[in-house]
Amino acid sequence: MLDAKRFLTALKNMGVDGYVFAEKEGPTLSELKRTVLACERCALATTRKSVVFGEGNPKADIVFVGEAPGEEEDNQGRPFVGRAGKLLDQLIERIGVRRGDVFICNVLKCRPPGNRDPEPAEAAACKEYLLAQLDIVRPRVICTLGRHAYNTLLETDVPITRIRGKLTTFRGIPLLPTYHPSYLLRSQSRIKESWEDMDKLKTML
Ligand code: URA
Repeated sequence: MLDAKRFLTALKNMGVDGYVFAEKEGPTLSELKRTVLACERCALATTRKSVVFGEGNPKADIVFVGEAPGEEEDNQGRPFVGRAGKLLDQLIERIGVRRGDVFICNVLKCRPPGNRDPEPAEAAACKEYLLAQLDIVRPRVICTLGRHAYNTLLETDVPITRIRGKLTTFRGIPLLPTYHPSYLLRSQSRIKESWEDMDKLKTML
């Protein structure tokens, strides 16, 4: 403390009586997007039509993290715009917010051919982008959709049925894992549990 006072007095004696401490700031979401759109870190760069960065409110209270773009997302360059996306829209409505209020992204920013599961090396190559997105948006809560998003962030390998609906934290941010909308389209008996998860999210805002 004393040293700091002496330092400031010395500055003043040198004629410096106004100063700002420049904060080192990370990239904005649009700067990050520019980098991600040019990414060639893995072979998906050679098969993709688009890079699907993600979209929504840069100051969102909720970030939804899916798995990877599908065919429609690859065509349009936007996340969750196919059948699963329509269901995600309904889940978001249940929280009482609009799609534009939240931020939606995926573990992988490029479509795996034939919609196969992401390979570990692809998820590892892309993870830095997801972490940067979460760092910039700093939501109040993260909702992972399906096992890939949860397991990639938490670096585990657990089945979704074991962790769905169980609140945890990621880097100090509450994280609620729920089912992936594509899974819900195939297993409609699970939808009630997803509604419950959305109700829980609503109480966290
Ligand atoms: N499934 C995903 O995981 N993400 C999308 O963007 C679309 C479908």
